[in-house]
Amino acid sequence: MKHYTSINDIDNINSWIEEAKGLKKNPLQNIELGKNKTIGLLFFNSSLRTRLSTQKAALNLGMNPIVMNVSGDAWGIEFGDGTVMNGSTAEHIKEAAAVVSQYCDIIAVRAFPSLTDRELDESEYVLESFKKFASVPVVSMESATGHPLQGLTDAITISEHAKVSKPKVVLSWAPHIKALPHAVANSFTQAMRKMDVEFVIANPEGYNLNPEITGDTPIYHNQEEAFKDADFIYTKNWSSYEDYGLVDNIDPEWMITKDKIGDAKFMHCLPVRRNLVVEDAVLDSDSSLVIQQANNRTYAAQLVLKKILEDL
Ligand code: CP
Repeated sequence: MKHYTSINDIDNINSWIEEAKGLKKNPLQNIELGKNKTIGLLFFNSSLRTRLSTQKAALNLGMNPIVMNVSGDAWGIEFGDGTVMNGSTAEHIKEAAAVVSQYCDIIAVRAFPSLTDRELDESEYVLESFKKFASVPVVSMESATGHPLQGLTDAITISEHAKVSKPKVVLSWAPHIKALPHAVANSFTQAMRKMDVEFVIANPEGYNLNPEITGDTPIYHNQEEAFKDADFIYTKNWSSYEDYGLVDNIDPEWMITKDKIGDAKFMHCLPVRRNLVVEDAVLDSDSSLVIQQANNRTYAAQLVLKKILEDL
């Protein structure tokens, strides 16, 4: 595999899930594979899980991770072609990506969307520029429209905890005070559409995700109806896609409560705002899988890095 920037880069999700479970059983089995190889983790945005779990994954493969908070510590990077750089940017992506490629065998990038310009965000100009100007493989650690390491993690977690052969999985919007990206919801949707699950989405009117991603997935505007007989309830806030980036609904009726979820397992990518998105009683109960999910971030990342290293 050359790059991993989308759930669509997974050729067979079931075999990937099984391979990740094997890595989890024996995390150091490929400790020689990444010997003398370096991964550069470039963060344009904050992170806890992605930053630490991807480093851990690299270390489990014997790699040397280098981490940089690009927004705070590097020169401002210019992405425009032909721009007269007389503003705040001091270095062009053409040089930056080429230079980092000399130090690193793999480059991983986190770059969130603006949520103000849909066309620009959907162009994925940061990730695509790294792919174009770097001479080494590129991994998305969450881009404008996708979080494929999280989506793979969630697929592994559902497979581990499913009690029936075809579980019902609900992706539910929940309230939030800030405009949040669609990336996690998009990649989760893409992953579930590759798995043998009954998948539905619940969100208020005006908050449908990109129809090119949801496809024929049933979308409910009534959360209670969507939650009927659910085995897994995956919760995430996202801002409006139709009225791009808008947050005009923080209706507490959409918060996830213990009463609502019944016997279903609760999932969230984290970080999560308690008692706004989901009440304490859910997170503090055995229904919650959020800590197990975060643990699986390491093995999802390790599998992706292993596949790239094998093809270097
Ligand atoms: N879920 C996730 O990506 O967490 P971080 O933003 O902390 O990396």
